[in-house]
Amino acid sequence: MVFLWVRHDLGGLPPTREEILERKKVDKNFGIRYLVYKNLRNHSFPFAQIVITRLLKSKYSVAWGRKPRLRKEEMAKVFICRNWFPEELQRVAQVHKTKIWMEENNPPREVLFREVREIEGLICLGSDNIDGEVIRAAQRLRVISSFSTGVNNIDIAAATSRKIPVLHPPYVLTETTADLAFGLILAAARRIVEGDAFVRQGRWKNSSHLDLPGVDVNHASLGIIGLGRIGAQVAKRGKAFNMKVSYYGQTRNYDPENLLGVDYIPDLHPFLAQADFIVICASLNKKSRHLIGNAEFAVMKPTAILVNASRGALIDSRALYEALKNHRILRAAIDVAEIEPMPLDDPLLTLDNLVVMPHIGSAVPETRRKMMAMAVDHLLMGLEGIRVPLCLNPEVYE
Ligand code: DGY
Repeated sequence: MVFLWVRHDLGGLPPTREEILERKKVDKNFGIRYLVYKNLRNHSFPFAQIVITRLLKSKYSVAWGRKPRLRKEEMAKVFICRNWFPEELQRVAQVHKTKIWMEENNPPREVLFREVREIEGLICLGSDNIDGEVIRAAQRLRVISSFSTGVNNIDIAAATSRKIPVLHPPYVLTETTADLAFGLILAAARRIVEGDAFVRQGRWKNSSHLDLPGVDVNHASLGIIGLGRIGAQVAKRGKAFNMKVSYYGQTRNYDPENLLGVDYIPDLHPFLAQADFIVICASLNKKSRHLIGNAEFAVMKPTAILVNASRGALIDSRALYEALKNHRILRAAIDVAEIEPMPLDDPLLTLDNLVVMPHIGSAVPETRRKMMAMAVDHLLMGLEGIRVPLCLNPEVYE
């Protein structure tokens, strides 16, 4: 099943005949799964996932629209950290004792502590800090279902030690986020945000070739940090712009590398030194925190443009400030910050060679609805004791 999703990742490419035959040797149901996949390619992935789950004779019936009749003692207590897409959340409320945080901000820490004490299921956002203390306070917790794909906000080790699966919804936001990352490349290279301000401020007096000179994206070299799902989609967009694409990452990713024809550069500094555009698509963890700092800015081209569409703490923001202020690199464009929401007195906001967005990589309503639908599916499956494939700590099922 995972195999199919990896393919979808690369733009819905079906497996080749050889791959199907190869796969069948180890998985005799693969043919059925592929058929389902083929017929469901235009459906949302949560739906396809449910059909596949069903086919595999799961007992899961909730998302088929049949309201399972749970006995009172089978109903779980659930807390949901935001009232986004209530029509999806209803599916939880119909079967479990559900409390939804109705405000726009994250539930404050004391509220979170109070609410998690009795719950068995939790749906949280990337901005909710579900650390070890929260997990320890939630003594009855059985499932953590994240709305966000990035889960650096969740202490996975603490969850694992309690055998709590941590579930997340990748795939549905891949292309949406890659679109924004590529948009940031274009915005920084062609000064789109500055151009808009230029006109509105009445500075468009005549047509001078000196107004807002940009740099070419086409035929430039694009270096991607992390050739995962989103990174591969950024690479694909780069290829369409005739860019020379390379990547660096903690793990080498042969599938998209071969399929898209991109070069792997195993060492960070040589990788950074050759790129005109550097796009961070890696996930944040202890190893990748402040991956880009003073030493890394020092090896970049003075004409380099840096884009971060992943997590703010991948870049040391002080080093970013110094690099931009001293024109060590040309420009940067970020959708994420070390502290979010970014405080208005953040020195980065004084720089005019920086484009800043408020963490909206996946912010297309249909994409976000799919993310919530998947978070709900996962929670319901998890509470039913079903092994969920998109689990970040599968060892809890051993
Ligand atoms: C994600 O899903 O990780 C996005 O950044 C939204 O939080």
